[in-house]
Amino acid sequence: MLPFSQAAENNKGPILQVLQEYLTRPGNLLEIGAGTGQHAQWLAPQFPEIGWTPSEQPENLQALNQRLGGEPAANLRPAIPLRVQDAWPLGPFEYIFTANTFHIMSAEQVALCIEQACQRLTGQGRFLVYGPFHYQGRPTSDSNRQFDESLKARDPAMGIRDQEWVVARFAEHRRALLGDHAMPANNRVLVFA
Ligand SMILES: C[S@@+](CC[C@H](N)C(=O)[O-])C[C@H]1O[C@@H](n2cnc3c(N)ncnc32)[C@H](O)[C@@H]1O
Repeated sequence: MLPFSQAAENNKGPILQVLQEYLTRPGNLLEIGAGTGQHAQWLAPQFPEIGWTPSEQPENLQALNQRLGGEPAANLRPAIPLRVQDAWPLGPFEYIFTANTFHIMSAEQVALCIEQACQRLTGQGRFLVYGPFHYQGRPTSDSNRQFDESLKARDPAMGIRDQEWVVARFAEHRRALLGDHAMPANNRVLVFA
């Protein structure tokens, strides 16, 4: 049986709506931490002029390719290995997309991810990140507070990031917040350009 995420199934529709607003030019897209591949498999064909390259940590690549290998959309490229703290593909990319990874990576890895991504985005490139965020150090809901506590109990390096901290990391690489969208289940999509 293929690896399956109910959350990815639930959020792919709302994510598509936001992506449609920002993925307006042809080009290449790198997806970081593609997980089960449900997002890549479903979203890529909605953007036929965008070459969509999913990536995952090397140890998870086989599971990802199981899903993507079936009948891939013409613009869905083979998944590539990428651990953000290791070597990155050269790019350039018009778009980088990642869902539900910033609270799984350590803060150090998130900062590195942002730095590396900004070096590979084109001048007009856009970085889109989906997931939960705190605002001014505070959770936006009780469920996010509990989720943050459970992450930290699992691994003290994990945890929901402050939106302002993420914005500051991008600013260090001259990318500004272009959009901040409320999503179902107390998630957000942040867009940097
Ligand atoms: C909660 S899953 C999200 C998967 C998928 N994007 C989704 O939304 O369903 C987090 C993903 O981040 C990946 N990840 C964690 N640390 C990473 C790192 N340092 N570099 C690259 N990917 C990482 C994991 O392998 C995992 O697939």
